[in-house]
Amino acid sequence: MLHKCIYSINTNTLEVFVDKNATILDALIKRKLYVKKACINGACGICLMQLTSGDIDYDGRIPRGLNNQEISQGYILPCIAKCKNNITLEQRNK
Ligand code: FES
Repeated sequence: MLHKCIYSINTNTLEVFVDKNATILDALIKRKLYVKKACINGACGICLMQLTSGDIDYDGRIPRGLNNQEISQGYILPCIAKCKNNITLEQRNK
């Protein structure tokens, strides 16, 4: 099953389809989009993006790279996040 991810970076917006078993980061890379990344396990926080609609799941993993303020502002870590439904994501500077 694929979920649609509307991904915005700067002034560009595009659709990316994310398999329910894949991380959002994997889908963005597969689409040949450049995404900042380092640890790929939710620890460093460098891949941070803001979820503006829809739901994600970390499959029991802990997003250690996010602080409480970032979580309350809707930021997620796409390197460990999977889509639960169609989502909208924005990459922008905090
Ligand atoms: S790459 Fe480190 S938290 Fe995503």
